[in-house]
Amino acid sequence: MNNHQIIAVWGSPGSGKTVTSIKLAREFASRQINVLVVLCDSVCPSIPTLLPGIHAKEQSLGRLLSLPSISQEQIFQHLVPCKAFSHLAFIGYVHGDNAFTYASYTKERALDFFTLSRHLADVVIVDCSSVLSADPLSVAALEVADQVLRMHECTLKSLSYFASHLPLLSDSRFHADRHLHLLSNVKAKQDSVQYSNVFGGIHHLLPFVSIVEQQAVSARLLDACEGKDARSYLSAIQKLAGRFMDYPSKADKEPFIQRLIQRLKGVRS
Ligand SMILES: Nc1ncnc2c1ncn2[C@@H]1O[C@H](COP(=O)(O)OP(=O)(O)O)[C@@H](O)[C@H]1O
Ligand SMILES: [Mg+2]
Repeated sequence: MNNHQIIAVWGSPGSGKTVTSIKLAREFASRQINVLVVLCDSVCPSIPTLLPGIHAKEQSLGRLLSLPSISQEQIFQHLVPCKAFSHLAFIGYVHGDNAFTYASYTKERALDFFTLSRHLADVVIVDCSSVLSADPLSVAALEVADQVLRMHECTLKSLSYFASHLPLLSDSRFHADRHLHLLSNVKAKQDSVQYSNVFGGIHHLLPFVSIVEQQAVSARLLDACEGKDARSYLSAIQKLAGRFMDYPSKADKEPFIQRLIQRLKGVRS
């Protein structure tokens, strides 16, 4: 596995960016690959929707980005560990955060954040905001990512979103031509072939699965996807994850959470 990769997940609103980020992270973590998920959405903070009960204001991504300077130790202090997977941690906006909660930050700060984060985990998955004009962190992720997963939905809204937002990524530093295209949340009656033809080339298809929908509404996305219906979805996620790692992965790495505890002990002693 090529370590310290940044994967940015970006696309139209409601296309499944968060769901896919979490399912991909789960797939890596279950193979003992240390994953950090950066949840950029500050409009609907994701930590409360994924890990309800975490109210720690002092762990907010907004707080971290607005500090006078940031270091790896400070990033560690803002991580939210995952009880179910010791190789997985999150960082994101927390309950009650809004655009005015923290001071704004610069593009340089956003780039620094990724330079430092890259070395904390084997894979950093960035769940980007769709609203690029309001989120310098997502823009920085799209610039520095080793791979961008571009999430489409089989809808006119999705086509309209890309018509508006792709011009924002026309500069060569974004390498928009190298994005990996995912058609997500595809329902039985939707014409994925026609969408692919109109847009021109979809690399992976993620079908709609009712268990995933249920997990999303009940904050259980880290649970396994079981059942016949979920098989094709799971195999699509595994295939996608497989693009970033060699099977079987080099297991027995020290879990993220252990490193986190040790680092924090070091800071406090
Ligand atoms: N593969 C899927 N199967 C079923 N429902 C899905 C799937 N992907 C996404 N969804 C549904 O779409 C909603 C929006 O997904 P989400 O990941 O939150 O979108 P985004 O982060 O792009 O705004 C989820 O709450 C879930 O109900
Ligand atoms: Mg989201």
